[in-house]
Parts: sequence; C-alpha cells; structure tokens
Amino acid sequence: MSDELKRQAAAKAVEFVEAGMRVGLGTGSTAAHFVDLLAARVREGLSDIVGVPTSEATRAQAEKLGIKLATLDEFPVLDLTVDGADEIDAELRMIKGGGGALLREKIVATASEQVVIIADKSKLVETLGAFPLPLEIVPFGLGATRNLVELLAADAGCEGEISLRMGADGKPFMTDSGNVILDCAFGRIEDPEGLDDALKLVPGVVETGLFLGIADVAILSAADGIEVLE
Ligand code: 5RP
Repeated sequence: MSDELKRQAAAKAVEFVEAGMRVGLGTGSTAAHFVDLLAARVREGLSDIVGVPTSEATRAQAEKLGIKLATLDEFPVLDLTVDGADEIDAELRMIKGGGGALLREKIVATASEQVVIIADKSKLVETLGAFPLPLEIVPFGLGATRNLVELLAADAGCEGEISLRMGADGKPFMTDSGNVILDCAFGRIEDPEGLDDALKLVPGVVETGLFLGIADVAILSAADGIEVLE
C-alpha cells in the first residue's frame, strides 16, 4: 500500500500530540512516518516532547531527528503511544509484530494512557489471522515450546504453518530483547482472547502479537479519505 497513505494516517496522529507529552514511538514503516512528522513539529516549536521508542530502529531514527528520548524506567506512564498494525478489526483488536518489536510495543502501549493506531485501510479485517501471528519465544527450549504451540494451534482448529522467522543474514531473527519469533499462520482466529490466554500459558512464550483491549483510536487512511475508529 502506498507510502502516501501511511503518511496521511501519521499526519492525523500528530494532531493528538500536545506540548509536554510523553509519547511512545511505535515501530514499522507507518510509525516511522509519525516519528518523522513529530520531529518536524518539535523543530517548529512543539515543546517538552519526550519519546519512548519501542525498538532500537525507532530509537536510532528518533535520535537522529533530534527527538528527546527517555525510558519507561524514567517515565513509567506515558500520555500517548502511536504505532502501526499488521491487522486490525472493528473492535480495534490487532495483530502486531510484523517488524519483530511486539514485546516492547506491547509494554510501551500498555503503559500509555492513550494508544492511537495508524495504518492504511487495507489492514482492516473482519477476522484476525490471515496475517501470521508472531510469538516472541525464549531461545532456550525452542523445539519443545514450538511443539506445545503446534498442539495448541491444532486444538484451536488452526492448521497453518508455524515457522521460525529468519533474518536477512540467514540466521534466526533476534528481537531487541534477545528472543526469536515464531510466525503462526492461523488463517482465522475465531477467539483471539481465548487463544491469547492459552498461548501465554506455554512456558517459553514471552508475548503474543495479539493486542487486545489496547488500542483506543485507529486512524485508517484510504484513497477516498481517512476513517477514525474509536
Ligand atoms: C512492528 C509492528 C508494526 O507496527 C507492524 O508490523 C506494521 O508495520 P508497517 O507500518 O510497516 O506496515 O507491529 O513490530
């Protein structure tokens, strides 16, 4: 989907930022537009903005653009987080983690008073699951953890492939927290809450890419305009 649509959604999200806010900075190509536009607003005079990045990639981008950064240890409660999504439904339930930042993204979003999601409208789905669900997994015991996830997926009626995400270097992709990712092609997730609860009971699963009850607002851009869901 066009970069221009992502930028339009990001531009709308910048309107949620006020002087003095502590802002969680998401990860991915759409969130990168937000960081870019936020930095422009800061340069224009929007004062006392502090950003908390959800990945090392976003940290590097924000630092380069001159956004003042902090950690959740310094500011455990944020005013706002703006982030992208891989899929979102009408109840603002999401799959995230396509960029591999799901753990930090969920920690930062959960610490935020308001969470605004930005995406082009092609990410809006009736039922979650066509996008493979990323799971962040501790490398120790990966084979055993994967077996348990496969059994659980079969129980949930999901027969899609579960694959270990690989990096461009041909080695398993490592998250910023030193974990690996299993991408689970569930196809249709009929009961996201039930699946999320079950997956979290598997030892070795650090976090799932199901973001449920986290988003407050979704800004979805399409060729015919921007739709805001709340
Ligand atoms: C990264 C994410 C991203 O927000 C998600 O993958 C969407 O990315 P993009 O805006 O590039 O489509 O969850 O872990």
